[in-house]
Amino acid sequence: MTETLIVERRDAVTLVTLNRPKALNALNSQVLAELLEVTRAYDADAGQGCMVITGSEKAFAAGADIKEMQAQGFADMYSHDFFAGWDAFTRTRKPIIAAVAGYALGGGCELAMMCDFILAADTAKFGQPEIKLAVTPGMGGSQRLAHAVGKAKAMEMCLTGRMMDAAEAERAGLVSRVVPAGELVEEAVKTAATVAAMAPLAVKANKEMVNAAFDMGLTQGVQFERRLFHALFGTEDQNEGMAAFVEKRAGKWTGR
Ligand code: HXC
Repeated sequence: MTETLIVERRDAVTLVTLNRPKALNALNSQVLAELLEVTRAYDADAGQGCMVITGSEKAFAAGADIKEMQAQGFADMYSHDFFAGWDAFTRTRKPIIAAVAGYALGGGCELAMMCDFILAADTAKFGQPEIKLAVTPGMGGSQRLAHAVGKAKAMEMCLTGRMMDAAEAERAGLVSRVVPAGELVEEAVKTAATVAAMAPLAVKANKEMVNAAFDMGLTQGVQFERRLFHALFGTEDQNEGMAAFVEKRAGKWTGR
């Protein structure tokens, strides 16, 4: 538990709930600092295999904190490279699932997209309304949204501020699945537990290679995949995983 986050361990799953209800979980510097600390601890903890980030029923997060940004000028923003701290969040090597109910707007949508995939409640609403504040996304939203849903929808959302509901987000490929709001957190934790039960090195490798698809061309990406695939044949868990299949039993992972 921190001032802005509720942190729970559910066996090998770290469940983080954004907890600034009065500001609809707007992401200020304190949330960023606390989330980075919690995420670093999760990444370093061999007992934790997957993390879920969620918000409230009303809002996953309604954006970066407008009240914190309001008085800033270009010199403040540029000299402190405002929002650059979020890059550290995206360098987390273990998986993070966003469980989104209600508003995921601006920085909230961007945080969800920085996670490895998004599970949405049927109440979820995604949007990049920064244009209404006479600015743009600043935490990667224009890039990640365009990758996720293609140019047409990303451009329309950024230029008009229109929100996408959960059904449209699923059709567009922004979210992996939509579940009833009342089941969101349990479903996310269950999904995270499935990931956490996999061999840890294979989890990291799968995350790294799917992410490479967004940075590399096809030929380079396929080669990167094959090299990582080869590398896993130097692990104890690969021996164990294949032996367990042949012997019709569950694998026991050492993470080596
Ligand atoms: C600070 C926020 C906030 C935000 C809501 N609040 N969003 N505070 N930053 N992003 C605060 C409100 O000021 C209000 O505080 C309280 O939360 C409840 O919000 P209401 O507006 O009263 O709730 P409601 O009428 O239900 O409307 C919900 C909403 C609306 C549609 C989500 O709050 C809204 O449009 N919020 C802003 C969304 C947005 O523009 N996000 C993008 C931010 S910019 P008080 O004290 O009045 O009760 C961003 C930029 C990244 O993310 C890069 C830019 C550089």
